[in-house]
Amino acid sequence: MMGLRVNKKYAQTVLSRLKELGVIDPQFRIQSSGDDVIIPLSTTEFGDVLVDIPSKVEDCEFEQRTPRNTSLRDYLSTVLPENLTPISSFDTIGEIAVVDIKEDLLPFKKTIAEGILKTSPKIRTVFRKMKAVGGEFRLRQLEYLAGEDNSSTVHKEYGVNLMVDIRKVYFSPRLSTEHWRISQMVHEGERILDLFTATGIFPLVIAKYHDCEIVAVDHNPHGIEELEGNISRNKLLGTIEGECSDASIFHSEVPFDRIIMNHPSGSENFLTKADSLLKVGGILHFYTFVPIENFEKEAADKLHSLLPRYEVIRVHRIRQYSPNEYHVAVDARKV
Ligand SMILES: C[S@@+](CC[C@H](N)C(=O)[O-])C[C@H]1O[C@@H](n2cnc3c(N)ncnc32)[C@H](O)[C@@H]1O
Repeated sequence: MMGLRVNKKYAQTVLSRLKELGVIDPQFRIQSSGDDVIIPLSTTEFGDVLVDIPSKVEDCEFEQRTPRNTSLRDYLSTVLPENLTPISSFDTIGEIAVVDIKEDLLPFKKTIAEGILKTSPKIRTVFRKMKAVGGEFRLRQLEYLAGEDNSSTVHKEYGVNLMVDIRKVYFSPRLSTEHWRISQMVHEGERILDLFTATGIFPLVIAKYHDCEIVAVDHNPHGIEELEGNISRNKLLGTIEGECSDASIFHSEVPFDRIIMNHPSGSENFLTKADSLLKVGGILHFYTFVPIENFEKEAADKLHSLLPRYEVIRVHRIRQYSPNEYHVAVDARKV
């Protein structure tokens, strides 16, 4: 393959100019040869950027790097221009990486995606987050960047194998601790309603560990279809019944011991509906976005504005959703 021979005293200058152009091949190590270094090149087309430096393009054998042992940040710092801070993390859903790339790094999005594939052996597909989650099914617009163009994967969460197509159904790996927190509060024999279930991850994590009866509702037919598959895919102690329905018209003759409402941008519109389905003494998990300042009071006030007699057990902060807002869960008892 082709390399660029240059005296060591020029190496730093040459490296930073070539990095700027993205023409160094990061899969190979720079060779030392007497007073010179030989830099592996992915292309020899770099115009006249080295016109002032004595250098020579030649054919050379290079030693391969072992990217498996290289962190993404280290890898990217060899291929991105020095003035840019490389990204070091991304969301992992099964074998898919979903990466948020800031404006200044966008011209290098393909290089970043290739870097993720090279340094993370379990990843087979890389997508980029385009916009915030939105629309009636709360989906994220994704741009395919590298690997296999397939948005379906099996994700593992607390022993549950979850098949999800992230272009069709909402799923966030950042909520796993919250799914587990709720699962740990459940008692055997409870009758539970998950009103905005998406792929059914709350019911699956609960039913994996508890013998209880769960009804899982969402108006996204893909979510309910995936839930059905996920019920068969997992060995569960409890039962789950999926129902494709708008939450506002969902009806049940038998009331519930616990209702989960994780649709933080909209669940407040369904509080009275949930109240009509919950037993006295039952527990409501109401999710919402609230300003960071006084978030506990803000969240309790939101619940009490519609259900004033509910006793707030705790307001649990899940994550920072935007510069000014938290995503919180209000755990409350119907009295
Ligand atoms: C934030 S996602 C659910 C997240 C999921 N509970 C979890 O923890 O991963 C919100 C879900 O609410 C559903 N949804 C929104 N409005 C709805 C409605 N009126 N009736 C039923 N489902 C609704 C969306 O389709 C979406 O799947």
